[in-house]
Amino acid sequence: MPDAVSSQQLAIDFAYLVTGVCFILGLRYLSNPKTARLGNTISMAGMAIALIATGFNLDFTAAWWILLVGAGVGAAVGIYSARAVKMTAMPQMVALFNGAGGGAAAMVATAEYLGALDDPSRLTWDFTLATVLSSVIGAISFTGSIVAFLKLQELMTGRPITYPGQQVVNALIALAIVVGAGLVIANYDALPAYFVALGAAALLGVLFVLPIGGADMPVIISLLNSFTGLAAAMTGFVLGNNVLIISGALVGASGTLLTTLMGKAMNRSITNVLFGAFGSVQSSTAGEGGTGGSGTVREATVDDVATMLAYAKQVVVVPGYGMAVAQAQHSVRELADQLEKHGVTVKYAIHPVAGRMPGHMNVLLAEANVPYPALYDMEDINPEFPRTDVALIIGANDVTNPAARNVPSSPIYGMPILDVDKSHNVVVLKRSMKPGFAGIDNPLYELPNTMMLFGDAKSSIDKLVGAVKAL
Ligand code: TAP
Repeated sequence: MPDAVSSQQLAIDFAYLVTGVCFILGLRYLSNPKTARLGNTISMAGMAIALIATGFNLDFTAAWWILLVGAGVGAAVGIYSARAVKMTAMPQMVALFNGAGGGAAAMVATAEYLGALDDPSRLTWDFTLATVLSSVIGAISFTGSIVAFLKLQELMTGRPITYPGQQVVNALIALAIVVGAGLVIANYDALPAYFVALGAAALLGVLFVLPIGGADMPVIISLLNSFTGLAAAMTGFVLGNNVLIISGALVGASGTLLTTLMGKAMNRSITNVLFGAFGSVQSSTAGEGGTGGSGTVREATVDDVATMLAYAKQVVVVPGYGMAVAQAQHSVRELADQLEKHGVTVKYAIHPVAGRMPGHMNVLLAEANVPYPALYDMEDINPEFPRTDVALIIGANDVTNPAARNVPSSPIYGMPILDVDKSHNVVVLKRSMKPGFAGIDNPLYELPNTMMLFGDAKSSIDKLVGAVKAL
């Protein structure tokens, strides 16, 4: 029969196991917009169980109150910022939250290490290895995420900051980290070495994010997120806490998968994102008012487009970053409602990297109560374009650029795109002929079946709603 203490420990371990299962199920459900809310709820329940179990683990000593106050302050800040943040500012909020996770891992590891220095028997190689990895990876994630936040919040330039010898400087700092960490593990003059490794890691976090363009930040945040997961898992080893190991590994793995998926959808390798300084060179030919190419573009009026839409059998809406900027999602829904009254089938084409963060378009359209079954992934909607009367492009650019299919010299050649050019008619809503994120011209605009409706997407769609109503 287990005694009272060990049965309590058993219950705590069981609660941690339940937490792990909740996190796995939460992630599973988060991967589909229909079940994402349920996924969030299950994950929240898992976190609550972990916090309560940790309280029992601390046996309600003074540390329990610290945990309670910390969790209370964290929850208040989390609830306030999640409610207050604008949808377009979500990436920088994720960066901040992620940085907090990395910083926490580094601080916990440092506290444990300083504590262990008083009891050298704890300084085994596996303890020091986990400690130094936790603090180094956590520090990189912390400072890197802060720079990502500053760039996205436009508190510093979002453009890539490059200078000669940058890679050499970064390599030397990485070397300092390796040497410092090695000395800590070897237990040789360990305290100064520990702080050298920690300081160098914090510096590397700043320097490796500086040369990355603001618009590449979502990929970097996802990468830093996987670093934070790894740091947390290492902290789990330092503390001997299974739930931290499990949840850290889950965050690390999902962050890595997301980074890879984003890279694939943009047809960019992670090394290209890290070292390519994408976005530093803008198209020299494209500019306001000019096509940037040799052909001409056809400009349409609101009435032309409204008539074409109202008499179509099928319209496919293609939202992009411009819809987010214009906050046009509610107007888009209203236009779709009006078209459906005219018997038009309206579908939405969702490119995996449309906008600036994963799921950007899904979130905006869900906010406007667009029904999930009307949303189609790229693979499912592409075969539909040849039988689509109008592809209505709302502030999307790169994700519709046929150069990705046809022009081997194009920077986005090979990126999977939405085959909008195969529709009978294409209508593009944007403000000018300026390029999108990739900084390149879009030959789609010069095709004979394409018409441009210039203006802010929300104001253009509001006018279209009025014109369709009047038909
Ligand atoms: P983009 O290619 O960036 O094009 C957006 C277009 O929206 C611009 O051409 C802009 O043209 C227009 N626009 C901006 N504000 C507007 C407004 N108020 N009203 C109407 N139009 C407006 O967007 P996309 O097609 O969604 O492609 C996303 C790009 O971001 C891809 O290159 C992708 O690789 C990259 N990226 C995505 C992610 C994720 S995870 N989604 C992460 C990193 C990078 P005007 O200025 O002429 O209006």
